[in-house]
Amino acid sequence: MATKGFTLWFTGLSGAGKSTLAEIISARLLDHGIGHEVLDGDVVRTNLSKGLGFSKEDRDTNIRRIGFVAELLTRHEIPVITAAISPYKNIREEVRRKIGHERFVEVFVTASLDELVRRDVKGLYEKALHGEIKNFTGVSDPYEAPESPQVTIDSELEEVETSADRIWNYLLENEFITVKQPVLQA
Ligand code: ADX
Repeated sequence: MATKGFTLWFTGLSGAGKSTLAEIISARLLDHGIGHEVLDGDVVRTNLSKGLGFSKEDRDTNIRRIGFVAELLTRHEIPVITAAISPYKNIREEVRRKIGHERFVEVFVTASLDELVRRDVKGLYEKALHGEIKNFTGVSDPYEAPESPQVTIDSELEEVETSADRIWNYLLENEFITVKQPVLQA
């Protein structure tokens, strides 16, 4: 059972592994019967933020919307997982203040640009490097890394399940979630 609402806020470049980790943590919460919501950047941009582009202004609007929904749910003790690049520190801090420092868990997911270009799951880095996509985060648009995230994941150095374990342990150790212990038979 969830002990209190929280927002697990993934930030990092496209392809770094935010959504994958969000899915793993979501599956673990479900396994423990902990109801929650996931706000994934790609999904949000097909509905809540449909029509927004990738200028600083539009990205800030996108992140404020995600933060707005996350705050509503978190306030009512529903854990939220978000996975958007959220490249600008000021807006992330604005969202952190609205949700409350004690309920906001920032997870910085990183990998080198070389590795992201090598993975290029969506084929976007190739296009960005050839100038076919303008203002692509990490290539031709800024990404402001968090200074003191609660958890940092280097997806180039660590297996994804190990990363998920570290996030899960952070949530447990800080009593965001409690997991029922099996009852031992005498
Ligand atoms: S954010 O900057 O507003 O937080 P968000 O996470 O919603 O971004 O969307 C990022 C996704 O949009 C990327 O994973 C990628 O698939 C796609 N995308 C398309 N154009 C861009 C771009 N110029 N910069 C970054 N991502 C882009």
